[in-house]
Amino acid sequence: MPNRIQAGAIIALASAIIALVLAGWLITPFDDNPAPLSDMQKSLGVGPRVSQLARQLAGVAGLQNPLTSSTSTAQPSFSHRNNFNTTSSFKEAVQHRRSIYQLTKKSPIADDRIKEILTTAIEDVPSSFNSQSARLVVLLKEEHTKFWDIVTEILKALVPEDKWKHTGDRLDGFKNAYGTVLFYEDPDPIHDLQKKFPEYADKFPQWSEHTSAMHQYMLWTAFESEGLGCNLQHYNPLPDERAAAEWKIPLEWSLKAQLVFGEPQEGAREGLAEKSRKPVEDRLKIYGM
Ligand SMILES: Cc1cc2nc3c(=O)[nH]c(=O)nc-3n(C[C@H](O)[C@H](O)[C@H](O)COP(=O)(O)O)c2cc1C
Repeated sequence: MPNRIQAGAIIALASAIIALVLAGWLITPFDDNPAPLSDMQKSLGVGPRVSQLARQLAGVAGLQNPLTSSTSTAQPSFSHRNNFNTTSSFKEAVQHRRSIYQLTKKSPIADDRIKEILTTAIEDVPSSFNSQSARLVVLLKEEHTKFWDIVTEILKALVPEDKWKHTGDRLDGFKNAYGTVLFYEDPDPIHDLQKKFPEYADKFPQWSEHTSAMHQYMLWTAFESEGLGCNLQHYNPLPDERAAAEWKIPLEWSLKAQLVFGEPQEGAREGLAEKSRKPVEDRLKIYGM
């Protein structure tokens, strides 16, 4: 019975995400149609925006760095297993989600439970016109390590030696986790909808990004509520072709994001710095109450 309740609440969570995304909360920066690869990019096994991306990753990777600090801001204590049972628990789940970078190669829940949550995501997270364009590739344990080895190998060839330590340490952090969810969008259902509803043709790629973001947020929040720590990465398009070859992923699928997850290192969650928050009144307007 608790499983049914949890599953129902996860579905409620997925539905609630619509409101957040429609509010323009989640934006992914990459387009759907990467330019053809140059010979050099092909030989490196990387995509067209790699040089720019490599510079960004090497130079400003700190921009999205963990909000960890030595100032301990304790989070409210949280029951990982039963938090989807009530409305207030849903609120707790949303409030509890953070970016956690200090992870381990362990999971507090069984792989079957991870699969159950992933299945709920793929079955019940909504998409525009019910396109169901999201595709998830989930890498656990050695497969996860293999993915981050690929990213490391590609970046090592691109990042200047003097910038490597920062980048390498960051990648080691991701590698030292339990798994990664790769979020793809399949362009076929999008193209079909564009043909069927030409009046919305220019909107479907954007809505495809939205449904991907909904899957990302639903899984991030659901995983964290089960005691996993997560962080969201965007190393695409660097590993796209190598990943496609390694895990037999159609090359047409467009990689949008990578959710790294694992049991947090001891004290990692408690050591997170309080987030800076812009004034709510500047960002939320309610009329009619
Ligand atoms: C659309 C989106 C893209 C993000 N991209 C990255 C990223 O590429 N790398 C990263 O480390 N964090 C990334 N983040 C995490 C944000 O930096 C983080 O969520 C934000 O600073 C708030 O911190 P919190 O997650 O602890 O609440 C992203 C988050 C969102 C919603």
